[in-house]
Amino acid sequence: MSNARAHRTSISDLAAKKKSGEKWSMITCYEEMTARIFDETGIPVLLVGDSAGNNFLGEENTIPVTLDEMIMLSRAVVRGSSKALVVADLPFGSYDKSPKLALETGIRFFKEAKVQAVKLEGGKKVVPQIKKLIAAGIPVMGHLGLTPQSVHALGGFKVQGRGTDAARIMKDAKALEEAGVFALVVELIPTELAKAISQELSIPVIGIGAGNQCDAQVIVWTDLMGLTPHPPKFARAYRNLRQEISLGLKEWMSDVESGLFPSEAETFH
Ligand code: KIV
Repeated sequence: MSNARAHRTSISDLAAKKKSGEKWSMITCYEEMTARIFDETGIPVLLVGDSAGNNFLGEENTIPVTLDEMIMLSRAVVRGSSKALVVADLPFGSYDKSPKLALETGIRFFKEAKVQAVKLEGGKKVVPQIKKLIAAGIPVMGHLGLTPQSVHALGGFKVQGRGTDAARIMKDAKALEEAGVFALVVELIPTELAKAISQELSIPVIGIGAGNQCDAQVIVWTDLMGLTPHPPKFARAYRNLRQEISLGLKEWMSDVESGLFPSEAETFH
């Protein structure tokens, strides 16, 4: 019997892009409708980021996002897509305590949401967690630089890896590659450091606020489409959906008030 399902991007496809020098993109996604739209563009990777906290759930940052919330959002993104690799963020408190906890969390994402990979934040200290997940067959994406789950410990959303701190991030990047991550996000670091990491590692390095010398770029979709009220300096809005949505709603409200909606064509007899 033939399997009619489209082939999703695999971690080997991404490794091949690194080898050939082909740049690619990853976008965050938090529910089914946008997943469908994004997937149809052919974007290779959808990230169910815990940035859902501040971009979808109305939280101040990513820290309060729960495992159950992430699983629900991830399941919707998987349902809405058929071609992209779907990667889900392990939320704060769901992996750092022990490799066993990380594996339990990863298993829930695989069984309940059916994502194809997970992402977690941190350097050397999370290597045991990464190894445990990979040994169980769960591909892992790393995340270094500004790691939003540690925003309080880092003293705010500040550029990381300046001066002597660059060596620490480079060491962590090498440790994560050695542990087996299939790709690495570097957030809010100087472009020179991002370039050096991209050149040093044989896995894809995905930048956000890290200049244009990485193998790939990731963006938060609400920043890209002009929905975020105060987007970060490194994001560029390609559309103004905030304005579009507001204009559309006002037009409809006005038609309701003047009796122009619904029309005869939108009415049953
Ligand atoms: O949660 C998220 O959206 C992320 C990206 C910013 C990389 O981790």
